[in-house]
Amino acid sequence: MADKGTGTADAVRPETPPGDGGAALVELRGAGKSYGNVRALHDVSLAVRPGRVTCVLGDNGAGKSTLIKIISGLHQHSEGELLVDGTAVRFSTPREALARGIATVYQDLATVPLMPVWRNFFLGSEMTRGPWPVRRLDIARMKRTADDELRNMGIVLDDLDRPIGTLSGGQRQSVAIARAVHFGARVLILDEPTAALGVKQSGVVLKYMAAARDRGLGVIFITHNPHHAYMVGDHFSVLRLGTLELSADRGEIGLEELTDHMAGGVELAALKHELAQVRGVDVQRLPEAEDLGSSAPASPEEAS
Ligand SMILES: Nc1ncnc2c1ncn2[C@@H]1O[C@H](COP(=O)(O)OP(=O)(O)OP(=O)(O)O)[C@@H](O)[C@H]1O
Ligand SMILES: [Mg+2]
Repeated sequence: MADKGTGTADAVRPETPPGDGGAALVELRGAGKSYGNVRALHDVSLAVRPGRVTCVLGDNGAGKSTLIKIISGLHQHSEGELLVDGTAVRFSTPREALARGIATVYQDLATVPLMPVWRNFFLGSEMTRGPWPVRRLDIARMKRTADDELRNMGIVLDDLDRPIGTLSGGQRQSVAIARAVHFGARVLILDEPTAALGVKQSGVVLKYMAAARDRGLGVIFITHNPHHAYMVGDHFSVLRLGTLELSADRGEIGLEELTDHMAGGVELAALKHELAQVRGVDVQRLPEAEDLGSSAPASPEEAS
C-alpha cells in the first residue's frame, strides 16, 4: 500500500499531485464491521493521504457506505483499527470525527432548499455581531465570506441570495465541498456525489473535488463509476462482498482493468457463453464489460 504519486495528466488532474502522500491522515488497518450476523466489512486496509483522492469502488452492498460510516463516526468498527494521524481512535459520534477534521458530504445533502445559498453555507455555524443580548446575524459578513470561499474554489454563482434548491445538483454538491473546506476539513468524504448527475454536472463535481485535493485535503470518493474514479483518483480500492478485492495506486492500474474489476468481467464472459447456448440471443450484440461499466450511474436511492 505504498503510495507513490504517478501522474497521468488529464483534464482535472495535474501532472504532479500536490501532496505526494505525506503521512496518512486517516487509516484503516484490517478493519471490519458486523451488523448482528451480517458481516458487512472484513479485513479492509486503506490510507487517506493529504492532497490525494482515494477512490472506493464496489457494487451495491459491497460495503462502501459501511466503510465511510466507520471513518465518519456513524458506526464503530468491530474488528481491526481506525487511526487518525497515526493514533488509534474509536469515534462515538460524527461530531467527534468532525472535530478531527473529517467531514462527510452525503448525497442527500443536508441543506434547506428554500434558504439562500449563503445561509446554507453557514447553517449551524452562523456568524453574529454585536454583544449579547443584542447579538444579530452578521448577514453581510456571511455573504462576503461565502462568496470569497466559493470563488477561491473557482465556483462562481451569480446570486448567493438564490434559494439553494434552485441550484443544479452539481452546484449544490460544489457548495457543500466549499463549505467543508471553509470549516477546516482535512479529510473530505463524498458518498456517491455523481450518482444522480448527468455527464456535465458530474464533471463539475469532479472539478471541485480536484480543487479540494489541490488545497491539500485527503479526499475519499465513493462511486460505482470507474470512469469518474479514474478521472480524479490517485488510489483505487475495490470492495466486493465486504472485502478488499483490489487496492492499487494509479500507476499500477489502467482504466480498462479497473472497469473489469468493477463490472465483474469474468462473470460477464461466463454469462455470455451461457447465453450463446440459447437460441435467439445474438451474443455478438451483447455489450462488452467496459460498456456496461460506463453506463454506471445508479439511482439516488441506491447510493445510501
Ligand atoms: N444497519 C444495517 N444492519 C444490517 N445490515 C446492514 C446495515 N447496513 C448495511 N448492512 C448490510 O451490509 C452490507 C454492506 O452494505 P453497505 O450499505 O455498506 O453497501 P454499499 O456498498 O454502500 O452499497 P450501495 O452501493 O447499495 O450503497 C449489505 O449486505 C447490507 O445489507
Ligand atoms: Mg452505500
